[in-house]
Amino acid sequence: MKKKLLVFGFLFSMLLPSLYADEGMWLPLLLKKKEADMQKNGMRITAEDIYSVNRSSLKDAVMLFGGGCTGEFVSREGLVLTNHHCGYSYIVSHSTVERDYLTNGFWAANKSEELPCKGLSVTLLVYMEDVTEKVLEGVNNDMAEKDRAALIEKNIENIKKKATENNHYQAIIKPFYYGNQYFMYVNEVFTDIRLVGAPPSNIGKFGGDTDNWMWPRHTGDFSVFRVYADKDGKPRDYSKDNVPYKPKKYLSINISGAKEGDFTFVFGYPGTTRQFLTSQAVDFVQNVEDPTRIKLRTECLNVYNEAMQKSPAQRLRYASTVASIANGWKKWQGELKGLKRMNAIDRKKAFERDFNKWANLTEENRERYGGLLADFDKYYSQSIEAKKSYIYMNEALLASDAMLYALRLLTLADISTDESVPEENVKENAENTYGYLMEYFSQDYENHKKVDRDIFVRTMTIFYNDFAKDRYVWLKKNIESGKYDNAEAYFADVYNSSLLSNPKKAEKLLKKYKRKKAEELMEDPMVEILGAVLSKFRKVDMVELNGINEKLDSLYRVYVEGIMKMDTVKEFYPDANLTLRVAYGNVKSYKPRDGVEYMPYTTIEGIMEKENPQIYDYVVEKRLKQLYNAKDYGVYANEKGELPVAFIASNHTTGGNSGSPVLDADGNLIGINFDRNWEGTMSDIMYDPDQCRNISLDIRYCLFIIDKFAGAKHLIDEMTIVK
Ligand code: ARG
Ligand code: GLU
Repeated sequence: MKKKLLVFGFLFSMLLPSLYADEGMWLPLLLKKKEADMQKNGMRITAEDIYSVNRSSLKDAVMLFGGGCTGEFVSREGLVLTNHHCGYSYIVSHSTVERDYLTNGFWAANKSEELPCKGLSVTLLVYMEDVTEKVLEGVNNDMAEKDRAALIEKNIENIKKKATENNHYQAIIKPFYYGNQYFMYVNEVFTDIRLVGAPPSNIGKFGGDTDNWMWPRHTGDFSVFRVYADKDGKPRDYSKDNVPYKPKKYLSINISGAKEGDFTFVFGYPGTTRQFLTSQAVDFVQNVEDPTRIKLRTECLNVYNEAMQKSPAQRLRYASTVASIANGWKKWQGELKGLKRMNAIDRKKAFERDFNKWANLTEENRERYGGLLADFDKYYSQSIEAKKSYIYMNEALLASDAMLYALRLLTLADISTDESVPEENVKENAENTYGYLMEYFSQDYENHKKVDRDIFVRTMTIFYNDFAKDRYVWLKKNIESGKYDNAEAYFADVYNSSLLSNPKKAEKLLKKYKRKKAEELMEDPMVEILGAVLSKFRKVDMVELNGINEKLDSLYRVYVEGIMKMDTVKEFYPDANLTLRVAYGNVKSYKPRDGVEYMPYTTIEGIMEKENPQIYDYVVEKRLKQLYNAKDYGVYANEKGELPVAFIASNHTTGGNSGSPVLDADGNLIGINFDRNWEGTMSDIMYDPDQCRNISLDIRYCLFIIDKFAGAKHLIDEMTIVK
């Protein structure tokens, strides 16, 4: 009797009914299971329309754009829409101070003006397959982790090989639910991608980092590309003989928009979520990881932002770096707030108590699941120091450019002293390193040196005071030698005397480099510091981390297996892992705090409200203002005559979903996903249906900019518009 009560007790606490679907990133292959619920929420198409292997379906219009964004086809000529911030570095790469596409925008008048983007690729999914059985063939629960991993690896290689024999496809197999399931993705990767159009920054990045992660939003966050292929439609690297790729499917665009409550879904490549983290892990994120990263990045941003005020050249130089540093920096602040507001740690603890009760219900459960949480405790507490070290390595040690070059010098020194490395390899490495470094020194170096030195000094000082003081005796000795007033003075001296800030010194040592100069290299003060910290990092921290992570992974595998056994009613979805997913929900307002309710869409009125010629992020283009004053919105106005700019919905998204198509009940494109709201950024760890919203660019604003603002009507003509 007692046992029964317990069972009901924890099941009840987990089966909280939800009015909207909201949480979840579903596998397209298994979407049939969600079809009824999606249709109940308003969808008028079928799961087969979204993902099919037998005929063309919406999935053929969706791509992984570059390494971490999503894009979608909107014409039979291979035209692609994605976010401005996804195309950003490619727009930057075609920009100079004289021909500044980033600031002023770029529009190819015809195909011959489209600009090839070096290094950019897009990945199309041909089909996916559940390969769990094949991957786990021969695996059993009594195997040692190492043997298990080796067998899985071997199986994976075989399966991939078979799938890519006699075709030009690439196959990837990824674990789901920490290795409880495996799916294979067979892809086509295109590498001739050209820039077709981008709005000026003060449209594409309107609101900048000030508005980033926030609602209400007014950013015209889109850019336009085109995929090229050979004459047979097969991927081929850039060639002037390539032709526009003809996709199996491209999206129709609905310009009648969506209203509060309307069904929408997002189809794209979410990167990482961690819904199953245990309480100790969430505690680490909340109390160590996020705060440490925020603190270090605040320093970097202060330095870069000040430099960017100084000249247009410096603004351009640091724009991309700052955008990416600031993005994480702000997200973590929202995440911290959200985790605290949700009492995430306590909730996880409560769940773990339930889990432990269940795990001890039967002998069989106890054997497999009974000790899990104690083991998590043990390994997590052992990993804290090494994890901190990892964070500082990324956010402090390698924050400055000079240290990145120091890393190269360290490698050169290493191979120079390694007798097994042939002379010509050393020579080649030295020549390359010398070349890179000289190029670095040739780019407005006097200005950059001050900036980069500040980055180095400030981040290293925090590293020292908050972490390294008692960990690296030699460092403390140096700093407290009596020669320096404080750590800052020491690090400044290190920077100034290093060859990494002295072109002449560097030239002298590297131009006619000889193996025996390795010692001199290693004596360079920056190389020396990096070498010492890195060596401990590699020999101690990484070894420890790898061992513990391997342990944790296998614990999570069993833990998640248990969680799914414990609750057979709940439908689980696997954590995001940069594979194609469907999230669905409804256009929906929310209440961010007491007394405030946010409407679900914004209009061009808000752009004019925010306008401030004094503030870079809020400068409004003259031409946009003219169109606004003339109310010249054409077919892109809504039924009230307003020009919509962005909208929010309850779709569960994360980084990587940027650029994802946001579709309506009929599978037509109504928006481009580009962000989440600040109050909802903890959804990577814990989703809150009340607070979590994805932010999308309204497709009508996108088309309005292309058509009315840029006059690129020829692009609109390629598209299929429905109303
Ligand atoms: N927050 C969005 C995302 O995570 C947009 C980032 C780019 N925009 C920016 N202002 N930095 O990627
Ligand atoms: N801007 C993000 C991206 O680049 C999407 C926002 C999010 O994290 O949900 O993918």
